[in-house]
Amino acid sequence: VPVAVAALLAAAGPAAAGPAGSTGSAGSSGTTGSTGSAGAGDPYFPLAGNGGYHVSRYDLTLAYDPKTRHLEGTAVLTARATQRLTRFDLDLKGLKVTGVTVDHHKAAHRRDGQELVVTPRTALREGREFRVTVTYNGVPGPVTDPDGSPDGWIPTDDGAFVAGEPQGAMTWFPANNHPEDKSSYDFTITVPQGHTAVANGVLRGQRTAHGRTTFRWCQSEPMAAYLATATVGKFKVEQYTTRDGLKVYNAVDPREAAKAAPVLKKLPSVLEWESRLFGPYPYRAAGSVVDHAPKVGYALETQTRPLYDSAPDLATLVHESAHQWFGDSVSLTRWKDIWLNEGFATYAEWLYAEQHGGPSAQKAFDQLYARPAGDGLWAYPPGDPGSGAKIFGTPVYARGAMVLHELRRAVGDRTFLRILRTWATEHRYGHGTTAQFTALAERESGKDLKSLFHTWLLTKGKPKKA
Ligand code: ARG
Ligand code: ZN
Repeated sequence: VPVAVAALLAAAGPAAAGPAGSTGSAGSSGTTGSTGSAGAGDPYFPLAGNGGYHVSRYDLTLAYDPKTRHLEGTAVLTARATQRLTRFDLDLKGLKVTGVTVDHHKAAHRRDGQELVVTPRTALREGREFRVTVTYNGVPGPVTDPDGSPDGWIPTDDGAFVAGEPQGAMTWFPANNHPEDKSSYDFTITVPQGHTAVANGVLRGQRTAHGRTTFRWCQSEPMAAYLATATVGKFKVEQYTTRDGLKVYNAVDPREAAKAAPVLKKLPSVLEWESRLFGPYPYRAAGSVVDHAPKVGYALETQTRPLYDSAPDLATLVHESAHQWFGDSVSLTRWKDIWLNEGFATYAEWLYAEQHGGPSAQKAFDQLYARPAGDGLWAYPPGDPGSGAKIFGTPVYARGAMVLHELRRAVGDRTFLRILRTWATEHRYGHGTTAQFTALAERESGKDLKSLFHTWLLTKGKPKKA
């Protein structure tokens, strides 16, 4: 895969065409003249995202037929140019593009691997807001990630399981497919009557006519493309508003309902508990989608509405709920920093167990620490997984949580919780990097934590105990 990517990047054009002084930059993300780059500059996924603009809003109008597996889509993106643009890319894999307009003018477009290259009639000046409309259709399917797992539009026997981390958004809509770019989303999804289409945020309306039902969903708080979903199936739907005014929408495949019910019942109390720890829940909507899908081997923290391929256990629900703060509201700028998502969500599981009659976090830590030096847990450091194939490995989740436990032991419980809460508050709806987190921990604790973080986050092999 890396070789093919390198070839694609080479084909994308010589950096030497750029103005003097701009060519030494970020390699893959370097822009050439007034052309938006083909990637956001993330070394793990060089073609993910695009340079030259930011998307503030996606309007996605979709129709899906589970029988034929045909998807019909219109995507309207409201974006702003961050440089002069004679040309820019969107990420879209597969599917057929039938038309592209930029500000209502027909735009030239071509496909190049996962890039949809758009040339507007006239160049867009820097700072200009513009609107891109893409009409497309076809039979979507998942991409295979570097670790071998499927992600994107995954057909099921009664619809589709739609999960996008890290790359899958581009399998069902044209996107600036990198968490660096966050946007609001409106979804209008039409499915055969009897099916339910579940996306993110608040359900704005549901109308049935001529044997088809249209669902309108609105995700107003910023969201990364990989957290979008449009999962379709025959679901049992449960809707209610919590005491805190949170709108909950659970969609459950009847085949999973009996097993899922006792866990889903705990969602409000889990979110309340996490709000006490991490600060206010970031969204107006909550809920879950429990599908009966081909086993994908993971759950996903789809924003406001985590997605499970079968009935989850409570620890998984706690994990995906914690991601609403860590991962969804506070997003990555580089996939390399993935421990900021997975280590934190895993540590939330430990804290939950500790405060609900289970083993202490110390016990969870000790059990892991007892693993021999050759164990996969120590295969690579969580702060530097090394490639996109390793971002969802045990070192990221388990040793990532161990980093936080070591931090807690070094600064004490009160300061530790203040660090977590301050992190979630200061970077709410935005982004955070590992360097920003370690700086915040030092600032809040007044301690020099460089060696702790260096040892636990970045050192190869099993760390020696301090
Ligand atoms: N973020 C998900 C979690 O909660 C894992 C997603 C894994 N994705 C994948 N394509 N393997 O742990
Ligand atoms: Zn996770």
